[in-house]
Amino acid sequence: MSTLFTGIAELTTNDPEFDGDDLLARITDAALVVEDDRVVWTGPASRAPEADDRIDVCGRAVLPGWVDSHSHLVFAGDRTAEFEARVAGRPYAAGGIATTVAATRAATDEQLRRGLRRHVAEARAQGTTTLETKTGYGLTPAEELRAARLAAEFTDEVTWLGAHIVAPGADPGAYLAELVGPQLDAVLPHVRWADVFCETGAFDEDASRAVLLAAREKGLGLRVHGNQLTQGPGVRLAVELGAASVDHCNHLSDADVEALAGSGTVATVLPACDLSTRQPLAPARRLLDAGATIAIASNCNPGSSYTSSVAFCVATAVLQMGLTVAEAVHAATSGGARALRRTDVGRLTVGAKAHLHVLDAPSVTHLAYRPGVPLTHSVH
Ligand code: NIG
Repeated sequence: MSTLFTGIAELTTNDPEFDGDDLLARITDAALVVEDDRVVWTGPASRAPEADDRIDVCGRAVLPGWVDSHSHLVFAGDRTAEFEARVAGRPYAAGGIATTVAATRAATDEQLRRGLRRHVAEARAQGTTTLETKTGYGLTPAEELRAARLAAEFTDEVTWLGAHIVAPGADPGAYLAELVGPQLDAVLPHVRWADVFCETGAFDEDASRAVLLAAREKGLGLRVHGNQLTQGPGVRLAVELGAASVDHCNHLSDADVEALAGSGTVATVLPACDLSTRQPLAPARRLLDAGATIAIASNCNPGSSYTSSVAFCVATAVLQMGLTVAEAVHAATSGGARALRRTDVGRLTVGAKAHLHVLDAPSVTHLAYRPGVPLTHSVH
């Protein structure tokens, strides 16, 4: 069964083979043919082939669905009071995570599943078609296993973040031994990635390295929360260990930027989190100018960034971080795919997954030109 999408005013393909100046490899007055779940043809509407079915998007822009490579959706409870204290001047600190750990442990499977379902649906309705999500609010072998198992019901991109903070009340050394032993073994069947919050108040460089090496040994890909609150060792460690991504990157030295630019590690910036925690915005412009690959993600979680809107993050990256619209859209699609080491999403080229995001606008420029306006028309 094939479907011809026609009436596309602007098609963002992100074709890496495109031989031109446009980062998004856009085609105007375009058509696209989907067969089963894959793209089988793209090109000018005037040359579109026949298909079994036809959908006219009536002059709208089509782009690849957002690839949201950083979220924490297995949680219960609410941190409104912490947010209010923060906007009144209290700084964000890793300690708030313990509040969500307590609420998550107290929740039933069905309550956690309901939250996941709601947030995944909310993200999809805004154009997200690939979503990574993390454990990290359980912090015992049984609770982390439960979180990983529930997350895997909603996405293949599940990340184990047992090393989020030292479990409340636990001895740091004993908790590290649990992480690299029984906890890692418990989650292994359900997760693709391991992540560490390498930060003051969470895990130092040695502990972070130990967790990442143990996970790599078991075949997991690596991700790091690094340089969010301080100019710590996270970025350096992520690059040293060949992590797919280092996320946050708010406080970077010149050496960090240089290391990222010379590596295969994606620098994932989280604009909504930066605003919500009142951290300096991650230096996305500086990273791009140095030659690093960046991704933009929502970091949807109840503490530091309670939004599932990648479009909001894209608009913020343009309006406040100095990116062009093309750079920001590319980072939230192709960049997210790179951060997840995927070549089948984040692009609309022959063979890629047919994850189509139709905007109620004639071009992606409207994502920043009309900030805050819900522009997702439909998601296929
Ligand atoms: O990516 N920084 C660490 N982890 C999350 C925040 C989690 C929380 O505050 O509950 C983040 O921002």
